[in-house]
This record gives sequence, C-alpha cells and structure tokens, in this order.
Amino acid sequence: MTCRILLHSIRGRTHKVGEELAWELGAQLHEIDAENTDQTIFGRLRSGFSALVARGISIAVPDQPWDRSDLLILGAPVWNGKAARPMRQWLEGRPALPARVAFLLISDETDYPAEAVEDLSSLTGRKPVAVLHVSDTDFSGGTWKGRLEHFLDQCVVRYRNSA
Ligand SMILES: Cc1cc2nc3c(=O)[nH]c(=O)nc-3n(C[C@H](O)[C@H](O)[C@H](O)COP(=O)(O)O)c2cc1C
Repeated sequence: MTCRILLHSIRGRTHKVGEELAWELGAQLHEIDAENTDQTIFGRLRSGFSALVARGISIAVPDQPWDRSDLLILGAPVWNGKAARPMRQWLEGRPALPARVAFLLISDETDYPAEAVEDLSSLTGRKPVAVLHVSDTDFSGGTWKGRLEHFLDQCVVRYRNSA
C-alpha cells in the first residue's frame, strides 16, 4: 500500500505526530510551506486575520502524484476552528486526490474538532477512513499514542476491505 502524508505545522506538533505515523505506516512524509507562519502572538493574529478574510497566502506544496496513493493522510493544526489555512488553501485548488483519505488534526483544546473534520470532508469531497485528533494536553502527556493503533488499524483494515 502506498501511503503519503501531507501536513502543515508551525510549532512542530503536527510534524512530530506525522513522523510517527510515517514510521508506523512506512509512508512518505511531505510538508506544505507557507509564509507568515511564525508562532508569535503577532504571527498568530496575522494568520488568524488571513484565515478570517480568506486572503490567499503564498504556499509551497511538493509536486507528488497524490491521487496515485492508496491512502493520503492530511495533517494540520486547528486554526480558528478549521484546519490551518495553508492546508485549506491547497485543497481549495481542488488537487487530484485518492479515494481514501484520513485526517490528522492537532489543537490546543481537548474537544473533538468536529467543524474542522466536516470542513476537510467537504473540501476533499471524501469521508475520511480515519481521523486522529491530538490535543496539546494529549501531546504533552503522550496519551495520544494510546489511540494510535486504532487509527492505524482503521487506515489499513478499511483499505483491505475496499481493496
Ligand atoms: C492562527 C492560529 C489559530 C488557532 N486556533 C485554534 C483554535 O481555534 N482551536 C484550538 O484548539 N487551537 C487553535 N490554535 C492552536 C494550535 O492548533 C495548536 O497550538 C497546535 O498544537 C499547533 O500545531 P503545530 O505545532 O503543528 O503548529 C491556533 C493556532 C494558531 C497559530
């Protein structure tokens, strides 16, 4: 199974979880680079403002045959209730995607980011085979690792079922 992971991360949390997924699944890990992604309060306000006014930002996405993956995991921090702007902006360009996608969402809050999941489903036009949500508390305490196996099983089992 060819699995790719595409993520955006500023403070490195999404990246760290993505690395672990890549290791477990033998997947290739790719990142979206974007301008204005500093983590200071000003950078955060600027990114939040761009997200609110839906202003385009400059992003760089690796050139990969995304749609030729058996599974594509999209990873992003939650910004203003939705996946981070660089990921949303890439998806708004309607890239060719594989049938199976999974989402990785990282947030400060512990509540399940239902709005972000729904928004990503709508942007991708796909119902995800699996969703892994990691809150900052989960991340710091390492408790998210307890849910990792279930997420990986969903990715792999559902792939086998529909293969
Ligand atoms: C512009 C901006 C908006 C954010 N909005 C939210 C939010 O609505 N809800 C939330 O729980 N966390 C929010 N956060 C916090 C990030 O989701 C959180 O710090 C995450 O761990 C960062 O992931 P990273 O380390 O991969 O960058 C926001 C962060 C930024 C920079």
